[in-house]
Amino acid sequence: MVTEPLILGIESSCDETGVGIVRGTELLANAVASSVEEHVRFGGVVPEVASRAHLEAMVPTLEQAYAEAGVRVEDVDAIAVTCGPGLTGALLVGIAAAKALALAHDKPLYGINHLVAHVAVDQLEHGRFSGPTAALLVSGGHTSLLMVNDITDDVRLIGETIDDAAGEAFDKVARLLGLPYPGGPHIDRVAREGDPTAIAFPRGLTGGRDMEKHRHDFSFSGLKSAVARHVQHEERMKRELPVADVAASFQDAVCDVLTRKTIAACKANGAETLIIGGGVAANGRLRTFIEDRAGATGIEVRVPRPGLCTDNGAMVAALGAELVRKGHKPSSLDLPADSSMPVTQVYAA
Ligand code: KG4
Ligand code: ZN
Repeated sequence: MVTEPLILGIESSCDETGVGIVRGTELLANAVASSVEEHVRFGGVVPEVASRAHLEAMVPTLEQAYAEAGVRVEDVDAIAVTCGPGLTGALLVGIAAAKALALAHDKPLYGINHLVAHVAVDQLEHGRFSGPTAALLVSGGHTSLLMVNDITDDVRLIGETIDDAAGEAFDKVARLLGLPYPGGPHIDRVAREGDPTAIAFPRGLTGGRDMEKHRHDFSFSGLKSAVARHVQHEERMKRELPVADVAASFQDAVCDVLTRKTIAACKANGAETLIIGGGVAANGRLRTFIEDRAGATGIEVRVPRPGLCTDNGAMVAALGAELVRKGHKPSSLDLPADSSMPVTQVYAA
């Protein structure tokens, strides 16, 4: 029997300091420290605050992961670290930690693409996937549709947002409705009491002309402005805002477009499996929409559990394990941070 590689993964691209340890597709540890509380009063992630929080959390989070897995850094076969895309200052903290460990313990280093890691993480929950696979990544920072023919060698960008990310739209609309940051879970909760058909909010990039140029792309800034105009109008009319109805109508507009475009992209690219990742994948309405509509077309839907959907180190380790298993060469020890690393680049060679 071939033994699977033991990999340490480090994530620090946004506001989560994550350290994961995996053996092949087996999850051994997933320690995460979040600085989200420190960003609440700003209503969004402040890069400098995030970087400082990574510095403070890195060593304790590494130690927590070693303890959870019962593994010492000396035991691992390689160290994987997110090197992009993300906030440069935040990425640099994880990269510096990974380089120090690789150098001190003479381990190979792999600089991992964060977006592809969001897809690879599903293997820790549902096992390896094969065959044409599509992935929808929806979080505060990204809204991307990928086609994954081979997780280490053939990842393509099919579509992405041309303005706000889906989670960002949830966060901004929550703010308009007086709900706390991050807004996604609050809108999800409040919307359950509302009527999703109460207000006809726009579905971005679904009209004829837009579909020609942006068939698989998304846009949420027009929707956000439409909600803002609705809120202002109700204020001018001195009417009490029907928060639950606005939340439900907004949420349906987002989830309807995400689902419609994702299923269309799956069909256009012959995808048999669809993986969903990122914080917005926790949204109840989105899950229902996708499962219902994908189910009707025979596409297998795989959604990792919430702790693996949001940013974490296990996803980085999971992709690192695949690279090692397939014999890919490690990255150079002078690996840079690449804030706009393209998704087609699975790792920094
Ligand atoms: O993946 P994530 O934890 O961090 C990054 O942005 O990379 O995603 C956070 C985003 C936030 O915008 C948050 O509002 C959104 O995911 N989110 C949700 C839900 N839970 C988290 N959006 C909609 N419904 C949810 N249940
Ligand atoms: Zn992410």
